Amino acid sequence: MNAEDEEFYEVLSGIREEAHVQEMKRYKQHGCVSTFEHCENVARLCYRLNRALFLRANLRTLLIGAMLHDFFLYDWHEEGDGSHRLHGFSHAGRACRNAEKYFEIDKEIRHVIYCHMWPLNLQRVPMSREAWLVCLADKYVSLQETLFRR
Ligand SMILES: [Fe+2]
Ligand SMILES: [Fe+2]
Repeated sequence: MNAEDEEFYEVLSGIREEAHVQEMKRYKQHGCVSTFEHCENVARLCYRLNRALFLRANLRTLLIGAMLHDFFLYDWHEEGDGSHRLHGFSHAGRACRNAEKYFEIDKEIRHVIYCHMWPLNLQRVPMSREAWLVCLADKYVSLQETLFRR
């Protein structure tokens, strides 16, 4: 493992392995990509951008926020009782509640998760560099997964 990988996994240790986070492997996010893989892809891109652009983000806030940004724990493609129909609008809030339930997250990490769907959630504007990074990286990674991983 190179030094970058070591740092990446070190910050996320205890998060990636947790049973509910592992449960995200069961849900499909885009194409054939699981929600777990999606969150890890976003975290990875955030990590790289932060280094490449010398953004000096708080790594814990950035990577834990990215890893838990879609921690909503259901398959959003499934119709079910229709409660997932507003998924785009509601899942950031659900992810926050799960993150608070299973981990002790601070308000900076909570903010990253809560605001990641801006501008769909128009009033939840990212206010930190970590939140901006996750918000933008999520859009880029989502597009790439949707276009190329079917
Ligand atoms: Fe999301
Ligand atoms: Fe996402």
